[in-house]
Parts: sequence; structure tokens; C-alpha cells
Amino acid sequence: MSYVHHIAYWESGAEVTEGAELPAAAPGDFPEVHYDLETLKHDLNRFAISQGPASIWRYAPLLPVDDPDNAVTLGEGWTPMLPTPRLAAALGMSDLLAKDEGRNPSGTFKDRGASVAVTRYRELGTGTIVHNSSGNAGGSWGMYAARAGIRCVNLLPDDVLPGSLQQSVLSGAPTFVLDGAWKESGAMVAEAVAAHGWTSICTLKEPYRLEGKKTMGYEIAEQLGWSLPDAVVYPCGGGLGAIAIYKAFKELQALGWIEPGPLPKLIITQYEGCAPIVRAFEAGAGAAELWEDLDVPPGGLKSTRPPGDKAVLNLIAETGGWAVAIGTDEAIAATEEMTRLEGIFPCPESATTLAGLRRAVAAGRVEKDDRTVLVVTGNGLKSIPVLADPAVRRVRPNDDMDLE
Ligand SMILES: Cc1ncc(COP(=O)(O)O)c(C=O)c1O
Repeated sequence: MSYVHHIAYWESGAEVTEGAELPAAAPGDFPEVHYDLETLKHDLNRFAISQGPASIWRYAPLLPVDDPDNAVTLGEGWTPMLPTPRLAAALGMSDLLAKDEGRNPSGTFKDRGASVAVTRYRELGTGTIVHNSSGNAGGSWGMYAARAGIRCVNLLPDDVLPGSLQQSVLSGAPTFVLDGAWKESGAMVAEAVAAHGWTSICTLKEPYRLEGKKTMGYEIAEQLGWSLPDAVVYPCGGGLGAIAIYKAFKELQALGWIEPGPLPKLIITQYEGCAPIVRAFEAGAGAAELWEDLDVPPGGLKSTRPPGDKAVLNLIAETGGWAVAIGTDEAIAATEEMTRLEGIFPCPESATTLAGLRRAVAAGRVEKDDRTVLVVTGNGLKSIPVLADPAVRRVRPNDDMDLE
């Protein structure tokens, strides 16, 4: 049974009928699922949730599916929340944690959204889904669509990382690589939807992906003993993940499963070569403008026109948060630092959170004793082509492996 009450646009409030064609939305607006939380609160408590499976599906009553027994799952979610004392010491902090999303089946947090949305689309009888993806979502959705037996058309950039490309192609997803500017990719998907009647699963164009990703927020709270941290640092592309985490926090407060009170400061990081939300934040604007000159390493954080810009800027304002842009070299250095000090091997996109937190602490935006969570959205194994050649000592048989 589903506790879904209705689906409505975040800003306009316009209601949506499930399965029907979605009305055109104003820029920055997106459909959100609302639940009958009063009934849910009556039927269920957080102890029952904590007895559930070690995956996102422990939160099934808070997800928009009719029958969780038919979930399209590869074991996504319930990723570890790792204390990082050596990183904390390097930043002069006392309580720093990393939510390690690199443990997900395809190597990134994208699997949460794919699992829930593909499950729902199969329930609705959807045949073909389509999106533009910088790579991680393409690989992930390809895998979940394969498992579900539905078709996922992936439009990927020409610098897509080989791991994501292989996941997409090997899973049988029809895969297009765009020879041209990435900022054109959204319009191409819209045209394909109009021409072929496919369903767009692009970031925030539909409601279910957000629901899957919000499980990150539930897990952060549950793994902290049903409490919230003081700050969350998130690598922001289209904005979906940050919006989703805070939707979860708000739902948990509405359920009475965590204390009411201020939400954690939202600190978002972007690459200097694609920082439309940081630029808008610094200008005090309520919305981001198109970022013309995309210049980021292969991988995620390529959203030149982030569809969640307004909601993310709202959350930053609401929580007293911050937005900061990180250079590519700084992100790669942070990748190395996180791996060396804690043994957590992040993709550089997610290592921007460490570089951003260092700046936020220096700027007094995060206190040294704030309990802070870095959201490590993906595994560095996908990013090998982006990382520097490792420095090694070469030896021959019988050589002494002398460390001096
Ligand atoms: C590894 C990684 N982290 C973070 C993001 C940001 O995604 P979003 O802001 O849509 O949650 C992306 C996608 O661009 C990504 O691939």
C-alpha cells in the first residue's frame, strides 16, 4: 500500500495526475510527491523502520510505490556513515563524518533515484525512459532498467568516463554520445520525448527520482540516532540531491521522528568551471543563469542550467548555508587527501565537499565543533582517467624494497 497523497509542483502548487503527461513547468519548478503523513504516523514508527532491510527499501512506506515486494533493487543504499577523525583534525574540526555513497551498486548515489523511479515506472507500465546524463546517472539507470526489463535511452557527453559508458552500453541501454555543446542536451531530450512519446527522467522533470534520492536524508538522520547534523556539505549539479536530503529532513520532522528545530546549514560546492548556483548565491539572486563556458573534468557536476537552482538557493538561505566554487586541481588534491587520511576513495566531484568545507571553516560559515556530514556521492574508481598518474617506485626481482 502506498501513502502517497498527491503530487504537486514545488513553486506553483499545480497538482499532477500520476501517469498523465506532466504540465510544462516554469524554470526552477518541479513536481514533488506528498504523503499522508498523519496516517503513516499512526500506522508506523521509526522502530519498525529500523527493523527493515539494509537498503533504501527500509523506507518503503515513504516511497511512491504500490508494492515494494516488486522493487527493482540491486542492494542500493544504507551506505556507511564513517567518522573521519583524521580529516577532522586536518581541518581543526571535532565531529566530521562522510556518507560514503561510492558503495552503491553502480558506484554512485544515482542508484537510489534509479531504483525507486524504475520501480514506479514499471508499475505504471512505462516502456521507454530517456535522459541526458553526464555519465553517472546514465550508467546507473541503464543497469536498473536492464534489471526491470524496460528501456532507458541515454544521451551522454563526448567526454563521458569509460566506467559509465560501459555500464550504459553493456546494460543494453540505447546510448547516444553528443558531439557538441552539452548545454544543448536538455532540448534534445525534450525533442525526443515529443517525437517518440518517451518519458523524460531528466533531473527534476519527474517526481520519482527525487523520492529515491531523499533516502540519503533519512539515512543521515537514522545513522545519527534519529538526529540531524549541524551542517551538510553537498556537491551540487542540478540540485536534486540537496533538495531531496532536505525533503527527507522535513518529512521526518513532520512525522515527529526527529526533533523539530533548525535544519542543518546546507553548504554546496560546484566546480569553478560550472558554478551557476555559486554565482547566483554570491550575487544575492534567487535563480541561476545559464553557465556558458563549461570547463570541468569528465564526470558529474556539468549542469549548466541547474533545474533545482531556486529551491537550492532557498535552502541555503533558509538554513544559513553557503555556496563555494572549487578549482579542478583543488578537487583532485582533496581526492588524494581523503584517500590518504581516511582510506575513503571519492570521485573528485564529491571531494569538492572537503575543499569546500575547508573554505567554509576558514570563512567562519561552519564552526569547528559543528557536527558536519560530507556527502561523498561517488567512488573514485570511475574517475581514474581524471586522476594524476600515481607515483610509484619501480623495482626488479631481487631488488631490496627499501623505503629510505
Ligand atoms: C558524482 C556526482 N555527485 C554529485 C552530482 C550532483 O547531482 P545533483 O545536484 O543533481 O544531485 C552528480 C551529478 O551531476 C554526480 O555525478
